[in-house]
Amino acid sequence: MSDSIFLDVINAKYTASAVWADQYPVGDMPEVAFIGRSNVGKSSLINSLCRHGGLARISSTPGKTQTLNFYTVSLKVGEDQRNDFFLVDLPGYGYAKVGRQARQQWSRFIDEYLVKSSRLKLICLLIDIRHPPMESDLLAFRRLSQSGIPVQVVATKADKITRMAVIKQAELLSAGFELPLERQALAYSATKNTGRDALLEIIYQIFK
Ligand code: GTP
Ligand code: MG
Repeated sequence: MSDSIFLDVINAKYTASAVWADQYPVGDMPEVAFIGRSNVGKSSLINSLCRHGGLARISSTPGKTQTLNFYTVSLKVGEDQRNDFFLVDLPGYGYAKVGRQARQQWSRFIDEYLVKSSRLKLICLLIDIRHPPMESDLLAFRRLSQSGIPVQVVATKADKITRMAVIKQAELLSAGFELPLERQALAYSATKNTGRDALLEIIYQIFK
């Protein structure tokens, strides 16, 4: 771990939207993907991480994000180093009202992405900190883990419960997903930026 190194996002910009592999942006930048149930707070977390209020569209209506959205993000490391990566916002899963066909297509292109993106280095699976993992979350975790890419569980909306409850719920999630000790669930609040430094540190590990 690099305990004291300064990390921050200095630039983040929308680059491309894609459904199938031939539409992915070209290049060899590593990728960090974000996935979770609809309305879990993915877009909010991305905006918080990038300190960019309008980067990913936020909505109280679930199912807003229906493509893979690629953002180019520059991570400033210490005084003079810069590491660029693609942040990939994946569509939410498990939202019943979108219709069965749309949902099936989502999972097909998410699956294709997991198999075809050789640049994908880390997947952040977002779970609402207030609830135990649902069946669809456990299924998603299993499927993502099968890709062999590290999966970081991020427990969202941490500001909605007390600090004591945050610790307890994060432990329950880590146990529920049977997470290894070195990759326990990370509590995050997009409104307070809690967990931001820790998540930047986890992302920085992909460059080592
Ligand atoms: P889809 O793109 O529709 O799948 O949703 P999403 O996962 O991107 O969720 P989004 O960021 O749009 O947030 C959904 C709702 O939760 C919005 O009303 C947000 O304001 C709220 N929200 C997201 N993150 C937080 C958080 O950390 N704290 C609080 N209090 N509210 C949050
Ligand atoms: Mg979204």
